[in-house]
Amino acid sequence: MTGVTVRVPAKLNLQLAVGPPRADGYHDLVTVFHAVSLFDEVTAEPAGRDGVTVTGEGADRVPAGQDNLALRAVTALRAAMPGPATGYVIDYGGVHLTIAKRIPVAAGLAGGSADAAAALVACNELWAAGRSQQQLLEVAARVGSDVAFALLGGTAVGRGRGERLTPALAPATPYHWVLAFADGHLSTPEVYAALDRLRAADAGGPGGTGNRRQARAPEPGLDAALMTALRSGDARRVGRALSNDLQSAALSLFPSLRKTLAAGLELGALGALVAGSGPTCVFLAASADRALDLAVSMSGAGVCRSVARVTGPVPGAAVVPPAK
Ligand code: C5P
Repeated sequence: MTGVTVRVPAKLNLQLAVGPPRADGYHDLVTVFHAVSLFDEVTAEPAGRDGVTVTGEGADRVPAGQDNLALRAVTALRAAMPGPATGYVIDYGGVHLTIAKRIPVAAGLAGGSADAAAALVACNELWAAGRSQQQLLEVAARVGSDVAFALLGGTAVGRGRGERLTPALAPATPYHWVLAFADGHLSTPEVYAALDRLRAADAGGPGGTGNRRQARAPEPGLDAALMTALRSGDARRVGRALSNDLQSAALSLFPSLRKTLAAGLELGALGALVAGSGPTCVFLAASADRALDLAVSMSGAGVCRSVARVTGPVPGAAVVPPAK
């Protein structure tokens, strides 16, 4: 076998409820993940030693060494394989990854996590390693908070750091989304830190001026209205129920996103929110035609770098069959 190519989707968070910071620096979440039709492709080929080449959208911002999350996933998978003592003779040898990016980097769409998930699926196939989906999900959870969801795809509730997943039962009707990509980036840890600061200020904590006197952020909970809306398949109800606790923090660091969100709503979006930690803005449209109208108007409004139309839910990371 010469190489295996895997296609993997970007994710949106239709709800992102963030709890207080934990001792390990992470935050407990309850989130509704939703995979959309914006895909990276990762090809794994046998090589003398592990390496990575990145092409496409934002490639120059992706680490090309061992810091690359997809390479870290390869290392994690190799470490999770049975040792020689078990009698296996398979060589989990060096791998070169070629990542073709269409998911923008540091945009709140979990592109790096997607590439890591794709690398797991590609190496599992390349090595004929026979790891089950469950075993890959366990490795994924160790690599990063959003990696497991990129394996699963669809719509799913994430808990813990976001890695404990329950697929959401929902009608197969697609939702039509418009993504507005920003001229800039946000760092996920910085956005979480900004949220902690805003909450401390709101509680009258260090440097705080707020009057809500809330000592700790509330424990996050699943939004029943969103889940009911998703089960109904009614885009209008879904649009009204979208929420993201990181949005205020992202807006504090990237104030021009307010204009982007307002423009989309004025142009008829059923709902709008910042994608994950941002700065991509997400708009729900009533139909494919309305999404096209919205995308055209948004690009003309001068409130973002570029736009994309996507649908969701779509499946998680999957091998692309070789061309005949
Ligand atoms: O797990 P991952 O590397 O994707 O997370 C990136 C950063 O986002 C973490 O280092 C942490 O600062 C923040 N994070 C968090 N709570 C989560 C997920 C991520 O604070 N549940």
